[in-house]
Amino acid sequence: MKKKSPISRSGRFAGGPAADVAQFTESVSFDWRLWRHDILGSMAHAEMLQKIGVLKKNELHAIIRGLNKIGLEIRAGKFKWKPELEDVHMNIEAELTKRVPVGAKLHTARSRNDQVALDIRLWLRDEITALLGDIADLQRTLVSLGEKNSDVLIPGYTHLQRAQPVYLAHHLLAYVEMLERDCERLWDCHSRVNVCPLGSGAIAGSTLPLDRALVAKLLGFVDVNGKVQLTQNSMDAVSDRDFAVEFCAAGALLAVHLSRLAEDLILWASAEFNFVKIADAYTTGSSLMPQKKNPDIAELARGKTGRVFGNLMSLLTLLKGLPMTYNRDLQEDKERLFDTADTVRATTRLMAAMLKNTKVNKPVCACAAADPALLATDLADYLVKKGMPFRQAHHVVGAVVALAEKNGKRLNQLTLAELQDVNPTFGRDALGVFNLKTAMAKRNLTGAPGTKEVAKQLARWREQLS
Ligand code: ARG
Repeated sequence: MKKKSPISRSGRFAGGPAADVAQFTESVSFDWRLWRHDILGSMAHAEMLQKIGVLKKNELHAIIRGLNKIGLEIRAGKFKWKPELEDVHMNIEAELTKRVPVGAKLHTARSRNDQVALDIRLWLRDEITALLGDIADLQRTLVSLGEKNSDVLIPGYTHLQRAQPVYLAHHLLAYVEMLERDCERLWDCHSRVNVCPLGSGAIAGSTLPLDRALVAKLLGFVDVNGKVQLTQNSMDAVSDRDFAVEFCAAGALLAVHLSRLAEDLILWASAEFNFVKIADAYTTGSSLMPQKKNPDIAELARGKTGRVFGNLMSLLTLLKGLPMTYNRDLQEDKERLFDTADTVRATTRLMAAMLKNTKVNKPVCACAAADPALLATDLADYLVKKGMPFRQAHHVVGAVVALAEKNGKRLNQLTLAELQDVNPTFGRDALGVFNLKTAMAKRNLTGAPGTKEVAKQLARWREQLS
């Protein structure tokens, strides 16, 4: 029984692949989503082929029309993908050639090796741009929440133990900073994604006089100064997936940041903290305990880091033993790359949506921030200002804390006499240290959670993100 051969096998092969081989090797079930970029790449390639005389004008137009029509059908969900044609590239090309016989000229001086490298780069470029937009929206959401609660103080924590008071906005802006570094990394990665590999052929370019720069310009492979970006080594171009690794690494770090934000929200939404209330639409119930309201979005944001890290490891492992140049192993890059992009984009969007629907429990925050122990360091600073070496001041305040604990008092309930009993350096102004408002006014170093500084940072971010 002789099966009809897919285009990549005609001529050389006696027949089609065995059914289980076709199933094992196909990628169209997942790489179909590259269709838009595959078509764009083919159009640019065709235009160039016309410029160098391989295609006539009317042939080019027939190909463009055919590709456009196929694109519309794919978008409408009417295109029939055939697994026996292996991948998105051959599905589209075969259908084009069936409809427009001159489509048989389209693959001139092109291999699926440079074609797939091109498609992934085009696709990833768009994903990065979209992700940067998603991140900016999350940053703006954090800034807005900070602005709306600009007077709210909470305890800052180290070791998850109360440390020193901070504005809630300061805590939220810490994430804005992290996310900004993520954006920088993604932009940096974008500059290496944004290089055109087409014209590299299967491994060794082509003997035909291709105009690589024209294709690159048509597809927007130019740097910020408008300089055309072309890969400079055909062997590297068809086997390089560093840009995908970089994206997955930047994505993994973004996932870490989202996970930490999620963890803070999970803690804050617990009865123990009770700093925030997440709107019902962004929480879920328990199938057994009727009273439960669970922060599942935040938990999934935290949980999904696992697959994002896994994707990075998969890609690194995939590449490490590959001999030059293209090997079919590389087909395994796409699902990992897609999954990272889908996961970090969805998580970023959902975290923003949840934060837009989260209310701060101001009285509870105020009560927690009013814990005078948070200002123990300020008391030591007070002694330093009186001339005491810090190490001694630290010791003295430690003794004050122990005394308060022994007497069952809060730090600010100790009398001046009790303080002076521990150390005579304490003056009448010592207890003034526990005024939270003045304490916050004093923290005005760059990057500190002082009243003026936090307002300044909020304004800076508001401006930068607008
Ligand atoms: N589906 C393939 C991939 O994703 C396209 C390239 C196939 N190239 C080849 N020489 N078989 O990598």
